[in-house]
Amino acid sequence: MNRLPQIFIQNIGQLVTVAGASQRPKTSREMDDIGIIRNGAVFIQDGIFRDVGTTKRLREKYHNKNLKIIDAAGKLALPGFVDSHTHTVFGGDRAEEFVQRIQGETYLEILKKGGGILKTVHDTRKIKFQKLVEVSRQHLDTMLFHGTTTAEIKTGYGLDINSELKILNVIHHLQKTHPMDLVATFLGAHVVPPEYQYDPDAYVELLCNMLPRVKTYATFCDTFCDEGAFGIKQSEKILKKAESLGFKLKIHTNEFKDIGGVSLAIRLRVLSADHLDNIKQRDIVKLKESDVLCVLLPGVPFFLMRDTYAPALRMIEHGLPVVLATDFNPGTCPCGSMQMIITLACLKMGMTPAQAICAATINGAHALGMANQVGSIETGKQADMIILDLVDYNQLPYYFGRNHVVMTIKHGKIVMENNQFMAVS
Ligand code: NIG
Ligand code: FE
Repeated sequence: MNRLPQIFIQNIGQLVTVAGASQRPKTSREMDDIGIIRNGAVFIQDGIFRDVGTTKRLREKYHNKNLKIIDAAGKLALPGFVDSHTHTVFGGDRAEEFVQRIQGETYLEILKKGGGILKTVHDTRKIKFQKLVEVSRQHLDTMLFHGTTTAEIKTGYGLDINSELKILNVIHHLQKTHPMDLVATFLGAHVVPPEYQYDPDAYVELLCNMLPRVKTYATFCDTFCDEGAFGIKQSEKILKKAESLGFKLKIHTNEFKDIGGVSLAIRLRVLSADHLDNIKQRDIVKLKESDVLCVLLPGVPFFLMRDTYAPALRMIEHGLPVVLATDFNPGTCPCGSMQMIITLACLKMGMTPAQAICAATINGAHALGMANQVGSIETGKQADMIILDLVDYNQLPYYFGRNHVVMTIKHGKIVMENNQFMAVS
């Protein structure tokens, strides 16, 4: 077997491990404990953290081994971010609509006129496979440079079998060729495509028939259950069929309106309910009795210039497992930086930096069913780690708007250093 080099990283000023929550997500007060080791070190072998502790203890243990030694010179280290909600594979962009929106048109008005998601569907259907791989890879590279080492990617800009399969094949190709761990989600139920606009139920039927064909490519099935998209009955039909075929479930809900999506999420025991900007107190209380993870996406209300952010603090007080993700997409959040999302979570939802870091790492891993492999720095887990040009984790959201990551390690390999990709052997 071709063994990876053994790496010893020492003198990490603050090693934020977020350890101890691989079995169940962190909730309530636990979210403020991010497992800091001062002057920390990690020993990595075969892509796995083999030891995590203080530099003093680990140096004594490993000093005479033949190791690649990296000196972190007092900097901050975190687990690689886990972005559990993205729509990374799409053609074109919507910078023109951005201008229309700042001039007063709303997102839903633009969608009703055939723009919005439908514009991206048009561009994504047109673009050739190879070109779509190329542009999607560039988006992933940007995310990796900003510290994301694991991401989910949804389909949903194809909306016919061939275009959805094209997107799934792009994701599959990137899973084999990009350093990040990527998880695929089928979101055929994103919006009703123009050709079914007068018969949405026929589109729901078509989706149910697509499910067996896309199953080999996608782990999750998701629906956009909201005003202007799919109703409760339609979402339920698709998700139930998906579950019977072995998909794990997710739902977009309460982004624009409360149409009862949270009750559906609980009834279907989805792994995560995402957005939740317009959630009522009674649904927060109901969620407490379930295991549904709450994936919050503050980049969306920020970019749509709305004041309705998900009530993250109330959710945390009620003991709900809160997750943060970007929702990277061309319409409602063209930003794939989890660092920016952490800043927004603090400024717009009142989360502490520690809570936000938990939500962006180990809790994100739970939202992908991957918490045994990624999301924290602890012995036995995949060695995904970022080093930031900071000395304290509170500085991460504070110095907002710039990329603090100076080194990204994915599965024990240095994949980025000082804004350069590393040739991975
Ligand atoms: O998560 N909510 C549905 N989908 C995306 C928006 C996609 C788009 O506007 O292109 C979202 O916000
Ligand atoms: Fe989304």
